[in-house]
Amino acid sequence: MYTTSPQRYATMKFRRSGRSGLLLPAISLGLWQNFGDVDDFARSREIITAAFDSGITYIDLANNYGPPPGSAESNFGKIINGDLKAYRDELVVASKAGYVMWDGPYGNWGSRKSLVASCDQSLRRMGLDYVDIFYSHRYDPDTPLEETMGALDYIVRSGRALYAALSNYPPEAAAKAIDILAALGTPCIAHQIRYSMLVRGIGESLFELHRDKGVGCVSFSPLAQGLLSDKYLNGIPEGSRASRDGTLKGDFIADNIERVHRLNSVALRRGQTLAQMAVSWQLYDDRVTTVLAGVSSTAQLRDNVAALDNCNFTRDELAEISDILS
Ligand SMILES: NC(=O)c1ccc[n+]([C@@H]2O[C@H](COP(=O)([O-])OP(=O)(O)OC[C@H]3O[C@@H](n4cnc5c(N)ncnc54)[C@H](OP(=O)(O)O)[C@@H]3O)[C@@H](O)[C@H]2O)c1
Repeated sequence: MYTTSPQRYATMKFRRSGRSGLLLPAISLGLWQNFGDVDDFARSREIITAAFDSGITYIDLANNYGPPPGSAESNFGKIINGDLKAYRDELVVASKAGYVMWDGPYGNWGSRKSLVASCDQSLRRMGLDYVDIFYSHRYDPDTPLEETMGALDYIVRSGRALYAALSNYPPEAAAKAIDILAALGTPCIAHQIRYSMLVRGIGESLFELHRDKGVGCVSFSPLAQGLLSDKYLNGIPEGSRASRDGTLKGDFIADNIERVHRLNSVALRRGQTLAQMAVSWQLYDDRVTTVLAGVSSTAQLRDNVAALDNCNFTRDELAEISDILS
């Protein structure tokens, strides 16, 4: 399925996550969708091993990924303890807790009780001794930040994770959380945020903070869940994410499809697919550490990885893109 040759590192670029020692691949793979028990395990296995074979060393999970929740971790556990068993030290595995996962008051949000129990459950599902990165999946306004960050610090110090990170924190809470972690001696190495050509506001409000505090930026949904590709140019195809579930909404597609057509023309002139240009546009920007994409096939994975062949933009291209996005 995958080669064991060092060729897998021939094209991938690695970028430092903030001021940490951890290098992340320019493109990472997220298992939010397409890797649950409802999906075809053989295809999931093929995608994950093909990703590893392309130099994608960072695999992103969370307790609730599936469906059903937890099944993406269980399925990934079979692969990392099967095909990829010999390669644990070449992989960065991340999990998260913070969204609803189990019944009752402790399976949600950011208490120490919830985070530590969830991390233990994730390790059991994946059959791992530790994860490389453990994220607080979202800011909990009702739990003291000191408690949530204290839990991340404990998770790292107890050997359950190597690094602590944040996801979806608004700027003010992110700044405080990063400072608390630094004071505890467990620095925040990354902040995971939604960022793409079509959704830029969150990134724009956080990039300066990340730079000042030395925190890496993991950009998720970089293809706006697939809208930044050529697949929706002629409507919503059967089997696509927009046809399957409610996460890629019809209103968002309708509001942006004209832009997508114009961006597609720019991409074709550059000799890229739109998906590739959407990835390249982020990698041109050193404020993004890694572009965390999802895929439903190895063909999409290869398409996205080929974005690395051209991450330069002319002034005219940037001006045209900026005009389209304004
Ligand atoms: N921290 C958080 O709260 C949070 C939230 C969301 C996501 N994430 C992370 O970010 C990861 C990526 O999120 P995402 O899946 O929304 O990212 P995305 O890369 O924006 O969207 C992935 C979807 O785009 C389509 N696609 C990908 N490559 C394509 C290509 N080359 N050509 C045409 N279509 C292509 C596929 O859709 P089809 O399925 O239609 O083929 C694929 O499922 C997640 O897996 C997760 O790890 C984190």
